[in-house]
Amino acid sequence: MKTSFLLALIPAAAVVLALPNNYARQDAPSTVTLSTTAEPPRARARAAPPPLPPRPRRSCRARPTRPTAPPSWTATSSAWPAASGAATPTLRRTGRRGFTPSTTRGLVLLACPLSKQGKSGRQMGGHVGSRSFAALAGASPAPYGDKFSMPKCKGVEIQDLPIEHLQGLMTEGRLTSHDLVECYLARIKQTNKYICHKETHLQRSDINIHSSHTHSISELNPDALPIATTLDAERRRGRVRSPLHGIPFLVKDNLYTADVHNTSEGTLVLLGGRYAEGEATVVAKLRAAGGVLLGHATMSEAADHRALAEYASGYSSRTGQTRNPYNLTQSTAGSSSGSVVAVRINQAAVAVGTETYGSLVHPAAQLGLYTVKSTPGLLSRHGVVTGSYYHDTPGPLARSMRDVAVMLDIMHGPDPLDNLTYQAVGRYPFEGYTAQVANKSALRGMKLGLPWDPYWSTNAHMNSPGIRQAYEQRIQELEEAGAQIYNITNSPFTALANEYGAGQHSTVPPPFQHSTAFATLLAAGYAEWLRNWIFPEGDSRRDTLKTVADMAAWNAAHNATTGALGNGTWWWAPETGQSFYDAAAATNGTLGSAFWTAFGWGRTTARQAIDQAHVYITDNGTLLELDGLLVPNGRAGGYSSACAPMPSYAGYPIASAPVGLDGFSTPFALGVYGRQYGEAKLVRVASAMEDLFRWNEAPRWHNADTRQDRPWDAPWPGYTCSKESLARYACTK
Ligand SMILES: *[C@@H]1O[C@H](CO)[C@@H](O)[C@H](O)[C@H]1NC(C)=O
Ligand SMILES: *[C@@H]1O[C@H](CO)[C@@H](O)[C@H](O)[C@H]1NC(C)=O
Ligand SMILES: *[C@@H]1O[C@H](CO)[C@@H](O)[C@H](O)[C@H]1NC(C)=O
Ligand SMILES: *[C@@H]1O[C@H](CO)[C@@H](O)[C@H](O)[C@H]1NC(C)=O
Ligand SMILES: *[C@@H]1O[C@H](CO)[C@@H](O)[C@H](O)[C@H]1NC(C)=O
Ligand SMILES: *[C@@H]1O[C@H](CO)[C@@H](O)[C@H](O)[C@H]1NC(C)=O
Ligand SMILES: *[C@@H]1O[C@H](CO)[C@@H](O)[C@H](O)[C@H]1NC(C)=O
Ligand SMILES: *[C@@H]1O[C@H](CO)[C@@H](O)[C@H](O)[C@H]1NC(C)=O
Ligand SMILES: *[C@@H]1O[C@H](CO)[C@@H](O)[C@H](O)[C@H]1NC(C)=O
Repeated sequence: MKTSFLLALIPAAAVVLALPNNYARQDAPSTVTLSTTAEPPRARARAAPPPLPPRPRRSCRARPTRPTAPPSWTATSSAWPAASGAATPTLRRTGRRGFTPSTTRGLVLLACPLSKQGKSGRQMGGHVGSRSFAALAGASPAPYGDKFSMPKCKGVEIQDLPIEHLQGLMTEGRLTSHDLVECYLARIKQTNKYICHKETHLQRSDINIHSSHTHSISELNPDALPIATTLDAERRRGRVRSPLHGIPFLVKDNLYTADVHNTSEGTLVLLGGRYAEGEATVVAKLRAAGGVLLGHATMSEAADHRALAEYASGYSSRTGQTRNPYNLTQSTAGSSSGSVVAVRINQAAVAVGTETYGSLVHPAAQLGLYTVKSTPGLLSRHGVVTGSYYHDTPGPLARSMRDVAVMLDIMHGPDPLDNLTYQAVGRYPFEGYTAQVANKSALRGMKLGLPWDPYWSTNAHMNSPGIRQAYEQRIQELEEAGAQIYNITNSPFTALANEYGAGQHSTVPPPFQHSTAFATLLAAGYAEWLRNWIFPEGDSRRDTLKTVADMAAWNAAHNATTGALGNGTWWWAPETGQSFYDAAAATNGTLGSAFWTAFGWGRTTARQAIDQAHVYITDNGTLLELDGLLVPNGRAGGYSSACAPMPSYAGYPIASAPVGLDGFSTPFALGVYGRQYGEAKLVRVASAMEDLFRWNEAPRWHNADTRQDRPWDAPWPGYTCSKESLARYACTK
């Protein structure tokens, strides 16, 4: 979700209005929880364990010559600054369970006694362990019987299988890549009505919300089957390129691919053009590793960069509304909406999305998937419509952290076509990301921080019924598994994020608000993109589309299909226009002093805050480096966006792992902040949590027959507004 960042930049009053819509429309898991060794229950039942896959192909030319292990310093240092500018934090044991309010100031080590209860309730292969989780969503039977069930593939159960197991089936000769492509195409036909070569805007009347449409695919690659055939032949000759050999994947519609089918960022204005500089480097790498590009996934139009408020996350004028299979009146979040839906409902094995500000972590949470939004520069952005050069990154969206890691291994590395990638050279883990995947035993001694304010205290999502208790139980499970949880009560984020954890604090003066940076980079990014975006001879856009202002003008001129005037062409958000484009145009894309002031302040303060929160100083002066910072990742009507702003402003990584279902049957997650190029550690932390929690709730397609009327997109159950927020933020939704 890129949308919410705007909040920070618009004047406070306007922000208030924008917020309720933003997050709600952008966020997303049912997954097989894969540990290093454990097989998912379904796989166990069906397929013999496949042999170990071959080692990942090293796609990166410049490898570090030695391991880049994190510093293991724990020595005391009186010179080290306190973790907060204020009082020196102190370390105390609470002796209390969970989130019991405490008046203790300073950092608190939660040292709760092990509970035997918590463990006995957990079941493998389906339910989260606790009653409170199950109770939240209710244990209703699947409302549509087998209607949406994933059929077997040539007699083999492939639903939710991780890459490693799909690869094993091909190694054993039980399935070919061609089989997999056919089965995923059949699944797409089963669940999407508009899939193939959708060339024109779906008119309102086309969007038959009575049916089971999820609109997760914008266009299929017509060459997917021939590509699979070629890769199958290669395998028969004994060549297996990587763990991805023959595995079908999808990419978000803003990653340019050199296939017959279109890339258009979900827009009509870019539809029909081609990128002169060749396909996205990450796509080329996935292809070279043997991946089969199945097509493009839908996305929020322009990656949520077209309108600042009242836009529909998951909606684009090219493809219509993407809906959430957990509850079809609920949002997928965005902007990587189609990518997460497709992976969740087995339309592909894995997908690639992108993030400026929450666009991977929010939809991943809302669909129960795993992701790592990496430090911009770890993965090349060449060939990606880049709304924001210093913030954007592609990223994997998958049903397990291991699949995420496999994708990172293939996609990372320097690229002469993206200068920012050189910053990352020497920062990759020597053994790769897959080697970081851990089981729950890795939690023993792991140090995890809770930045209490504002993310765990006033964050609106936390006040929804059952949510706080659900997170409390997860934190307790982490402790029982041996993790040390540190309560960061003097959180440096308090002064930077607003009271809900979103955007920027209301005291940040306008020149320092990050919205200026985003708007400027959007204009600069489009100008750069359009220089290389070639329309066919005779297309009026060929010589006229040079800037974001030109795009806005074209959208206005084609308002009947683009909805650019905000008068009813967008499905359920009639006010949506193109205020973000307008704001971008107003900056002229000038990277001048106004830009550097806003960008520099936001980037510097967010980096300091994340670095600072990772350092914990005990009573006796011992320095501890935390392994990650845990933040809630769930919907709260736009007021809550703990996972978007700081990692975006800082350009630091964040991982997300699903932990539960809310009362409206949509998933929510735990986010893990890391430090610059700390992706290896995030893979370790998040995969250990995955093995511990074993969250695995399949979508039940609730409300698949719901009409277009509201309620649409109401977060569970709405959110609980504080008195103060009621007054200040018109928090009435
Ligand atoms: C963390 O500290 C705050 C402030 O002292 C307190 O209100 C909260 O209950 C503590 N959380 C936990 C989990 O101990
Ligand atoms: C790409 O979009 C253009 C414009 O809508 C359309 O003419 C063309 O057929 C599309 N290409 C494919 C392969 O669908
Ligand atoms: C990246 O490097 C190329 C070649 O050195 C240069 O032309 C280009 O301006 C650089 N781009 C950025 C964004 O720094
Ligand atoms: C978990 O990982 C550790 C360290 O790699 C390993 O020694 C142990 O056998 C694993 N446990 C299980 C249950 O796989
Ligand atoms: C809206 O579209 C109509 C044609 O559909 C066009 O005549 C009109 O000029 C457009 N409005 C604007 C403000 O561009
Ligand atoms: C939207 O409003 C403009 C200006 O009032 C009008 O020209 C256009 O036809 C309208 N479009 C639709 C689809 O109603
Ligand atoms: C953008 O360009 C216009 C026309 O040259 C100018 O009036 C305006 O001040 C510029 N805006 C910025 C933010 O530089
Ligand atoms: C300081 O405190 C930490 C944590 O309580 C403890 O592990 C360590 O042994 C102490 N160090 C000294 C020198 O007392
Ligand atoms: C689905 O979401 C709607 C609100 O959009 C809610 O009223 C309904 O109870 C939810 N359904 C389930 C089964 O949770």
